[in-house]
Formats: sequence, C-alpha cells, structure tokens
Amino acid sequence: MHFPLSYVLIRNSEHQEDGGLEVNGEEIIRFERVTKEYDGTVVLDDVSFAMERGKFYTLLGPSGCGKTTILRLIAGFIEPTEGTIYFHGKPIQNVPPNKRQVNTVFQDYALFPHLDVFENVAFGLRVKKMKEADIRQKVSEALRFVNLEGYERRRIQEMSGGQRQRVAIARAIVNEPEVLLLDEPLSALDLKLRTEMQYELRELQRRLGITFIFVTHDQEEALAMSDYIFVLNKGKIQQFGTPKDIYDEPINRFVADFIGESNILSGRMIDDFLVEFAGKRFVCVDRGFAPNEPVDVVIRPEDLELAAPEDGQIVIRVDSLLFRGVHYEICGYDENGNEWLVHSTKKAEVGETVGLRFEPEAIHVMRVEREDEGA
Ligand SMILES: Nc1ncnc2c1ncn2[C@@H]1O[C@H](COP(=O)(O)OP(=O)(O)OP(=O)(O)O)[C@@H](O)[C@H]1O
Ligand SMILES: [Mg+2]
Repeated sequence: MHFPLSYVLIRNSEHQEDGGLEVNGEEIIRFERVTKEYDGTVVLDDVSFAMERGKFYTLLGPSGCGKTTILRLIAGFIEPTEGTIYFHGKPIQNVPPNKRQVNTVFQDYALFPHLDVFENVAFGLRVKKMKEADIRQKVSEALRFVNLEGYERRRIQEMSGGQRQRVAIARAIVNEPEVLLLDEPLSALDLKLRTEMQYELRELQRRLGITFIFVTHDQEEALAMSDYIFVLNKGKIQQFGTPKDIYDEPINRFVADFIGESNILSGRMIDDFLVEFAGKRFVCVDRGFAPNEPVDVVIRPEDLELAAPEDGQIVIRVDSLLFRGVHYEICGYDENGNEWLVHSTKKAEVGETVGLRFEPEAIHVMRVEREDEGA
C-alpha cells in the first residue's frame, strides 16, 4: 500500500476560537465560514478551521453539538448551507462522495453480514473493477495492518466486537484514503477493549501517516489519542489546541467543565496579577484584563493541597470522601457556599474543617462568555 509519509512539524499551539486557520504543514482540509442549517435551524454556526496531512484530530463535544455533521460535510453526504470546504486548497462542493479521497468508519461499522471478512474489505475495490490479483494483494495488506491475517474466510457473525471494528477499518483503509473519518468507532466496546483499540488506532494512524478525524464525546479518550482537539458546543468551535493546551489552558467555563473535573468559580480581576474569588483576593499570573472585569477562575483538584485550617487560603468543611486508588477525592464547601473538589494523597474526615493551599500558577483566569457567544 502506498501512503504519503506524514510531514513532521511543530505547530504554534496558541489556542484560537476559530479552529486555527493556519497550518504549518501541508493543508488537507479547510472549512471557511461553514454554516449548516436544517429547516432553518442552525446546527453548525459559521465554523472555520484548517487541518494538515498526517495528524490525528479529534472532534469532542456533547451530543448534538455537530460532530457527525462535520464528518458528513467532509465526506460529501451533505452540503453546507453557507461557506466553502476546501480539499488541498480547492473547493470540493461539486465533487461527489465517491470521488473524495475520504473514507468513513461508522459507529455501527455497517459491515455486510452475508459477506466474509475478505469480501467485506474487497467490496470497494470490486466496485472499482480492480483486477483480482490486485484485490488479493491489497486486501491482505489491509488485513495485515489491522492484525487480522488468517481471518479472510470468517463470517462477520463469527467475529467479536473488536474484530468487527478492525474489519471496518481495513475496509476503509484498503481504498488508500488521504483522510479517514471515524465516528465514535469505539463506543460499542467494553472498557478494556476500548482502551486496547485506542492504542491500536493511534498506532495505525502513525504507521499509515494519513489524517484521522476521530469523533468522541469522551474527554479522556480525546486527551489520550489526539494531536489536536476541537472542542465543540452548540454548533461552534469553543477551542482548538493540543490536548495539553486544552487541559492546561481551557479558554472558557464550558471547555474547563467539559474537559475534566475542575473547580470553577466566578470572580473578578482587580488588577494585573490580582484576582478576587470566593470572597478573597489572590495573587495570580494572569494580566491584561480590564479593571474589575468579571472572570471565571479554574483550579484543578490536583493543584490543591490540604493544610491546617489556620494555614489555608481557603477553608472548607469536608462533605464527602472517596478513595480513588491513587488519591482521595475530597469534596467540601467554603463559607460562601462554593463547592471545592480536592485530589490528595492525604485523607480528611467527613465533617472535618480543613485548609486548602495553592500556588499562584494553579489559578487559571478565563474571560467570561458574552451571552451571544453561545456556550
Ligand atoms: N437530517 C437532519 N435533519 C434535521 N436535523 C438534523 C439532521 N441531522 C442532524 N440534525 C441535528 O443537527 C444537530 C447536530 O447533529 P449531529 O449529528 O452533528 O450531532 P453529534 O454531535 O454527532 O451528536 P451525537 O454525539 O449525539 O452523535 C442535532 O441537533 C441534530 O438533531
Ligand atoms: Mg454523532
């Protein structure tokens, strides 16, 4: 099989609300101000982004936010209401789905139950009227890629969920697409198999060197697998960035909340490097806000340290305690009624009053969304 090698590069990882209109590598897909409406209802709202060859992208967001819609637009099953989609810099509006260098792995795999593994994978090549000898060679290469050599004559009903998943992937990659679209391909699998397949998919993407666009509503899966993540909500891109960017520097309350367990508090910026929340003022590392600008503040549970009440910057009364194997998950309330979640290797008792300490670097200040910006 002939796959273009990925072009290794380092991207400027500064986050943007538009999904990054600049790529450093070879641009493969670009959305320019794309809107999709169904009967006057906007499901994708003026979305712009660019993707480069050979990277693993994840579309992450809650149900109904428009993830599948983006994949369907790329595959050509639907057309934008407004805006333009480019493939290698050329508009693809008039290119039918079967002429796009794109293949899709659907959530339910959509395999043909009456055909065996070989014929399922060979299907697209037969449609193209490829010669028998070439079909044999390409199918066995594709099956080798997904570790299913020797399964050629198995019936689909005799394959496990994870094996069917691999057949679906082999069927997609046998066409040598430049882009592979994967719509929640792991959601039907149990946790152990799911973790295994996450690893396998990531490896496969590296070996093939093609662009993967992977859809999930599981934030841990997105963080573990992706080069870049698009966080979507209500038809808009909330944030684009590397998993680390998005985890460490969520751009707003929605992203912070969606990407992981966090303490999110309302506050205001008193001045550069001085923020007020939970009824107190704290030194922070953020600047460039208007005086008294309302902000949201994030502090990760793992950045909080337990202390004696008199040493605490915040004092909470412990409400619940859960042992999580590596740490205790401690939940409590401060005197203003704010809820605090702490991950600590130290234990605290329910009903006990404890202090919390944190470094200025642990305070992450975010602008507050205006109403008309969604989220
Ligand atoms: N053919 C259609 N006609 C009308 N509305 C549609 C159609 N397809 C999708 N929608 C609506 O568009 C919105 C986005 O749908 P989409 O399938 O992209 O969501 P999603 O992010 O993939 O969600 P999920 O995680 O549940 O799969 C939803 O509100 C959905 O109801
Ligand atoms: Mg979907």
